[in-house]
Amino acid sequence: MRTAITDMFAIDVPILAFSHCRDVVAAVTKAGGMGVLGAVAHSPEQLEIDLDWIEDQIGDRPYGVDLIVPARYAGSDEGGLTADKIRALIPPQHVEFVQDILRRYGVPDLPDDEGPQGDDGIGAIFSATRADPQLDIALAHRTALVVNALGPPTAHMIERVKEEGRRIGALAGRAQHAERHVKAGVDVIVAQGSEAGGHTGEIGTMVLIPEIVDAVGPIPVLGAGGIGRGRQMAAAMALGAAGVWCGSVWLTTEEAETHPVVKKKFLAATSADTIRSRSRTGKPARQLRTAWTDEWDNPETPMPLGMPIQPALVDEALRRIDRAAYRPGSGAEQLANYFVGQIVGAMNVSKPAAHVVFDMIEEFIEAARSLANQLED
Ligand SMILES: Cc1cc2nc3c(=O)[nH]c(=O)nc-3n(C[C@H](O)[C@H](O)[C@H](O)COP(=O)(O)O)c2cc1C
Repeated sequence: MRTAITDMFAIDVPILAFSHCRDVVAAVTKAGGMGVLGAVAHSPEQLEIDLDWIEDQIGDRPYGVDLIVPARYAGSDEGGLTADKIRALIPPQHVEFVQDILRRYGVPDLPDDEGPQGDDGIGAIFSATRADPQLDIALAHRTALVVNALGPPTAHMIERVKEEGRRIGALAGRAQHAERHVKAGVDVIVAQGSEAGGHTGEIGTMVLIPEIVDAVGPIPVLGAGGIGRGRQMAAAMALGAAGVWCGSVWLTTEEAETHPVVKKKFLAATSADTIRSRSRTGKPARQLRTAWTDEWDNPETPMPLGMPIQPALVDEALRRIDRAAYRPGSGAEQLANYFVGQIVGAMNVSKPAAHVVFDMIEEFIEAARSLANQLED
C-alpha cells in the first residue's frame, strides 16, 4: 500500500497500533505496520528497558511512543501538583465511598509489600513533569513518532521532536482541536471518534474523519475509534484518512498483557457493553461497563473528581480489585474492568497481533475491490 503515512514512515501498511504492551508494539511493526508504545504508566527506567527491547526485536523498522500531557488538569498552571496537594483535594466522602464499594464487594486489602502507591506515581502521572524525562528517553532512542493525547503537545515537546528530525502527532476528537494542533506544528493527526477505547469525545468516527481531513489537509490524518477490521479500515480511508490508528483490538491478542479476567470479559462482550465514564481517570474514558462503572454512574453516589485527583483516589482500589479478581464469583471479579472501545463486540477470538494485521489487510483488499466493482465502466 502507498499513502502519505506509509511514505512518511517507510512502512508496508498504514496500520498504527497503540499499545501499552511492548510485545504488541514489536509484533505490529514486524508485520509491516507501526507499533506505538503508550508510555504514560512507564517509569523512566522501564521505558529505557522497553525501548531497548523493542529495538532489538524490530531491527531498523520504525516505532512510536505516546505520552499524555493534558492541556488542562488540576494544577496544570504549576506544571503538576505534588502528591500531598493532590491528597488534600480528595473530599472525605469520596474516600468513604470507595472504601464502601470495596467492603460491599468483599475486596481484600493488598499484601503489606504491595502498599499504597508512592508519591511519584500519584503526583507525577498525567503531567509535563512526568512526560519530559520520557520524551528525552524516546528521543535518545530511534523513536520515529512521538504522540500526545489530551491536548496539543507543548511547544517544548514539538521543538525537541523536530530538532531531532522525528515526527510529532496528536489525537483530536474535534476539527477545532486538529486545527489547533496543526497550527502548533503537529505532523500527523489521529482523528479519534467517540467509539474509541480510553479518553474520548462525543463525535462519532464516521462524522469526525472527513471533518478533520477537510480542516487540516494536506496534513495526513489517521482514522481511529471503532476500527478493528479491514472493512472499517476501508471506510476510514474512503473518508479521507491516510491510514488507521487502533487501540482496543490489540487488547485480546495473544501478546497483550491484559488482565486475564478482563480479557475473558472482552472476548464475551458486545458492542453495547461499554460506557464513557470519569471513574478511572477523572476525564471521560470509554471502558467496559461493569459493577465498577455502575457504582459511579449511580446519581445517588459522589461524582468522580477531576484529573489527576480521581486517579489518586482510585489507584489503590483498582489494584486491589485486579489482584482479587482471579477468584471466580468474587465481588472483585464483578468490579474488574478496563478501557476498551465499542469494537469489543467484534473481538471474539484471541489471536497473534500479526494475524490481526494480516486479516485486516485481506479484508481491506476485498472491500476496496468490491467497491471498485460497483462502479460502471
Ligand atoms: C486500553 C487503552 C488505553 C489507552 N490509553 C491511551 C493513552 O495512554 N494515550 C493515548 O494517546 N491514547 C490512549 N488510548 C486511545 C488509543 O490511542 C486509540 O486512539 C483508541 O484506542 C482508538 O480507538 P479503538 O479503541 O476503537 O481502537 C487508549 C485506548 C485503550 C483501548
